[in-house]
Amino acid sequence: MKARVFSGVQPTGNLHIGNYLGALSNWVKIQHSYESIFCIVDLHAVTVYQKPEELRAKILEIAALFLAAGIDPKHSSIIVQSSVPAHSELAWMLTCVTPMGWLQRMTQFKAKSAAQETVGDGLFQYPVLMAADILLYHAAIVPVGDDQSQHLELTRDIAQRFNSLYGETFVVPETKLPGFGARVMGLDDPTAKMSKSSAGAGHAIALLDTPEKIRKTFNRATTDSNPAVDFATMGPGVENLLGIYQAFSGTADAAMREKFTGMRYGDLKKQVAEMVIMHLEPLQQRYREITADPGYLEGVLREGAARVTPIANDTVELVKRRMGLYTAR
Ligand code: TRP
Repeated sequence: MKARVFSGVQPTGNLHIGNYLGALSNWVKIQHSYESIFCIVDLHAVTVYQKPEELRAKILEIAALFLAAGIDPKHSSIIVQSSVPAHSELAWMLTCVTPMGWLQRMTQFKAKSAAQETVGDGLFQYPVLMAADILLYHAAIVPVGDDQSQHLELTRDIAQRFNSLYGETFVVPETKLPGFGARVMGLDDPTAKMSKSSAGAGHAIALLDTPEKIRKTFNRATTDSNPAVDFATMGPGVENLLGIYQAFSGTADAAMREKFTGMRYGDLKKQVAEMVIMHLEPLQQRYREITADPGYLEGVLREGAARVTPIANDTVELVKRRMGLYTAR
């Protein structure tokens, strides 16, 4: 049997080239070597207020972008979290075995709750729901960015605690695949990872940005005080631009040095912008085709949910039995 991969994306903000190079493009590459489930985690999104009509549109946009990027829905399951009720059910059961102290230590909770006027309990429970997403499918591999490692570690702790209280039930998941994914930094601030929730105009290149917008954003990107590209002394901004070019083009290190050494930053930015535009154009074309047929997209999501629901329900049933909750069978 192929090992199962599970990953999730919140339907908030705009998917950008950092999400593509760090996650999506790798999911596409590995999808046939594993049994993959890619989940749009709308229940996580509502841990902070979302405008209902925007959330609904975002869920479909992300699903269409997954397909446009090359996720094959015949082989990989694309699911919307709230359409598989077992996610919420298992989350409650796991909540009951999770000490509050573990959740109080979560740095993402501390950061996110500090930014809210009132903090919903869901924001506190966020990592437990994430543990449920993963444990529900006995996923062995969970490819996520560094910012999610603490949540993954917690998932492992929750699985182990449940197993020791109620007997072997859950697979304890691995964090990620070795060497998985490029790390793209913000174009305005190359010391911070490119983020979906950073609203600044010069920060990210969204997958659906127009060519003019992409050129403009790269043109404004932070570089350093060197007059031109120098691989020995370059700062993080120039390194990031070169990294983006290399990741999209697949150019070898030696060829990168040969091509870019001594190049002025204005020209470097143009080269990077055109490389990105060339790769995003076909993706955007597929996106337009997919979204022109809403019935197709709904079918993909329905099929995904139908495929994973029996697995999820079996896990909930097993957990109920282990805990002594009532089951009819
Ligand atoms: N918390 C993750 C993020 O913000 C999204 C997520 C939810 C997730 N459930 C998951 C990622 C399960 C991996 C596995 O990036």
